Amino acid sequence: MRTVLVIGAAGKTGRAVARALTAAGAEVRAAVRSPDSGPRAYAAGARSISVVDLESGAGLDEALEGVDGVYHLAPNVHPDEVGIAERVGSAAARAGVQRFAFHSVLHPDDASMPHHVRKAEAEHVVRSLLPGATVLRPAAYHQNLLDAARSGRLAVPYSLDAPFTNVDLGDVAAAAALVLTRPGHEGLTLELAGPEMLTVRDQAAIAVDVLGVPVSAERISPESWVTGRGASLSAQARSDLLAMFAAYDHHGLVGDATTLRRLLGRSPRTWSDVLRASGS
Ligand SMILES: NC(=O)c1ccc[n+]([C@@H]2O[C@H](COP(=O)([O-])OP(=O)(O)OC[C@H]3O[C@@H](n4cnc5c(N)ncnc54)[C@H](OP(=O)(O)O)[C@@H]3O)[C@@H](O)[C@H]2O)c1
Repeated sequence: MRTVLVIGAAGKTGRAVARALTAAGAEVRAAVRSPDSGPRAYAAGARSISVVDLESGAGLDEALEGVDGVYHLAPNVHPDEVGIAERVGSAAARAGVQRFAFHSVLHPDDASMPHHVRKAEAEHVVRSLLPGATVLRPAAYHQNLLDAARSGRLAVPYSLDAPFTNVDLGDVAAAAALVLTRPGHEGLTLELAGPEMLTVRDQAAIAVDVLGVPVSAERISPESWVTGRGASLSAQARSDLLAMFAAYDHHGLVGDATTLRRLLGRSPRTWSDVLRASGS
């Protein structure tokens, strides 16, 4: 696999995937919303950028010229996730790319979370356009809580006692690079979860041990999240995330690490591993 187009390449996940693809020997072309995002993509290893508007599809055909593979990840909780999958998948099918991977989510069929259901529909769209596509279903990333742990306060708007099998974003990116650069993953759906089941309370206790500083676990109310961190989001994104917090209260987000362990040829990184690496 020589050239891979990474959709959303300047974002949190896209930069990790660009780094992993570059390390695996692929040449990354970064699809970015605006030239202003170019420096972030280049810093993650991209060799070229293409400006693409995922909401209209403008720029997609040009971005796909000479591309062998595509890694598609949609902007977080985007209301038109399904339309974006349709535009990216159709353009990739027109371009005749050899490999296509779609970044979905763990348990896309969980009807209590509207943004998961949109991922399930997007998976279906991708598969109907590109039957050989590989679907990755990552758990929540350890990195979502890393800065908060390092600041000494894990404050979340859901239960401190709900179980999660969070996964290292670097491991997810390594798996993404693998399925695009090596044969044998066409048509597969891969659940990517971390190797341990932890609550936020557990994560705070482990952070105390590993970082050697006080780290509290605090539950904040959904109402204070709405007026705090949620205030800058669109009404739709707020509503999606409130539904996600309620689902987390009910059953957390738990998956199985077997597939990721097999792909990586080692145990996926634990929360302790990620905390230790962040200190160096
Ligand atoms: N966080 C998790 O734990 C987790 C777990 C599993 C799956 N996921 C999935 O991972 C995906 C990526 O999440 P993320 O947090 O990495 O996303 P992100 O940081 O928001 O990155 C998304 C990228 O898409 C770009 N973008 C937004 N609108 C666009 C448009 N109209 N046209 C072109 N580009 C556009 C953004 O550009 P700008 O940089 O210019 O804003 C950004 O670089 C999501 O689909 C999410 O559901 C996340």
